[in-house]
Amino acid sequence: MRKGWIIASVFLALMLVLSACGGGQKTGSESDKNVLRVGTDAAYPPFEKQEGSGEITGFDIDVIKAIAEAEGLKVQVEHTGWDGLFEAVDSGKVDAGISAITITKKRKKKYDFSEPYFEAKQLILVPNDSDVSSLKDLKGKKIGVQSGTTGEIVVQKAFGKTYEGIRGYDDTPGAIDDLVIGRVDAVVADNGVVLDYMKKLPKGKFKTVEDNSFEPEFYGIMVKKGNKEVLDKINSGLKKIQEDGTFDEIYKKYFGQDS
Ligand code: ARG
Repeated sequence: MRKGWIIASVFLALMLVLSACGGGQKTGSESDKNVLRVGTDAAYPPFEKQEGSGEITGFDIDVIKAIAEAEGLKVQVEHTGWDGLFEAVDSGKVDAGISAITITKKRKKKYDFSEPYFEAKQLILVPNDSDVSSLKDLKGKKIGVQSGTTGEIVVQKAFGKTYEGIRGYDDTPGAIDDLVIGRVDAVVADNGVVLDYMKKLPKGKFKTVEDNSFEPEFYGIMVKKGNKEVLDKINSGLKKIQEDGTFDEIYKKYFGQDS
């Protein structure tokens, strides 16, 4: 009995010493300035993806890791979902979002963005035998888009916000899945992603359609409005990796040519 008490108190004392030593460390909720916490909707290949609960990978992830490395920061990437990403930046759960996010006027009211790092455009994906050859041909058809994205915006602009053919999905793979089984007639999303799906979908079954009303879009890394400290580091790191060739290497790895 006595022996048990001695062991217990020695153990307790040890625990106390150990926790005192760790006392200087930041707890989970407090942010550590050496760690860049980044949120993403890891369902937008080749920009970001995650298989099961595996590692999050992709072009954006390589870019943010390289930026962090250039700034001497560690990086922690978490899947937040798309709507969740904006909430996570709002609440400070993450310091930044990288997720093929188009810099828009509306988003700029609430968030700050890095210098643009990637140019994109909307692209329409339809079955190969579809009669669609422009955006307006989608009138009367069911169109899958990811809710809250610029893909949804171009469709709403063309047919009105209340257009009944529009189908909003939480993520883009959900919209693609429904296109494959014929539940929607088309998907509108960023060109890089649509072209990546073209490589994976059954050969000859789908085609892409451009529309000259689609404006160029530019991706930026997003922080909470006024978070100059993080934004400055991101812009500085981005500049470094663009100058030293790291960015081009990452670009080539995913898109097969120079940026
Ligand atoms: N570029 C588009 C936008 O900003 C789509 C981005 C969607 N990104 C994602 N990871 N799901 O609205």
